[in-house]
Amino acid sequence: MTTEPLFSRDAEVIDGKAAAAVIVEEIRNAVLLEQVTPGLAVVLVGSDPASAVYVRNKANRARECGFFSRQIVLAATTSEDELLKIVSELNLDRAIHGILVQFPLPPQINSQHVIDAIDPEKDVDGFHYANAGRLAVGAAADALVPCTPLGALRLIKQACGPDLGGLHAVILGRSNIVGKQLANLLLLEHCTVSVVHSRTINPENICRQADILVAAVGVPRLVKGSWIKPGAVVIDVGINRVADDTRPGQSHLVGDVDFDEARTVAAAITPVPGGVGPMTIAMLLKNTLSVALRSRP
Ligand code: GUN
Repeated sequence: MTTEPLFSRDAEVIDGKAAAAVIVEEIRNAVLLEQVTPGLAVVLVGSDPASAVYVRNKANRARECGFFSRQIVLAATTSEDELLKIVSELNLDRAIHGILVQFPLPPQINSQHVIDAIDPEKDVDGFHYANAGRLAVGAAADALVPCTPLGALRLIKQACGPDLGGLHAVILGRSNIVGKQLANLLLLEHCTVSVVHSRTINPENICRQADILVAAVGVPRLVKGSWIKPGAVVIDVGINRVADDTRPGQSHLVGDVDFDEARTVAAAITPVPGGVGPMTIAMLLKNTLSVALRSRP
């Protein structure tokens, strides 16, 4: 008889960079094979340094895949009308198949007005009511599904296998971008889904019941080892910049999960950085390619 605990070893660290590289390679090959030039327009308003890095990465990766990539950078003082005019021009531009307006936007611009203005068939972020609604009623094949939840689902299947039926998925966070959409995706995969949020009583008790635990709340290292069921798959969507204790004046990125604690309990866990993040860009390119293929004459 063994006295060793069931999960005495460290969790498998799920390599999102490697998984994303495989998808990007598939996209590059599809572009060559199908002889299409998907067009992606990425719009940045203002000069938030983190957003500028995300936008540059998206545009560069698109170019590397043989896409036509337009990067539009606007002053932080841009009015809502000015931005809406640019969106309607992009809606009519036949060389553009995907439009992404980077969030957050400056306070004078209502984000929902911008989302509403994007042609739902070019809404590669999957934020438009039409796409969110399609996913919510189970018509995922007709929807453009948001990139981060799509990327998270890929990594969940990589860790758990293709059949997620009956597994209990607990999602921390109810945002329109991640939490609600991933809940709908996992329902379509026949998971039992719980959504834990800021008003949930005893969140750790619910998290401890999860076979699949997804953290998407933007609170650094919120999820402790004691919140995790031994053998669970943990997907960390958080990207939080925190001060570095060992290097004064420096900072680094951490997720919503206390990685060092979680890895001693979970069966598999995504790191930050290098987990869900790279998958988001890969899925953006995949969505843009699908629109380009769909809109061929
Ligand atoms: N800002 C942070 N994440 C996202 C995203 O997925 N899409 C857009 N448009 N902006 C973001």
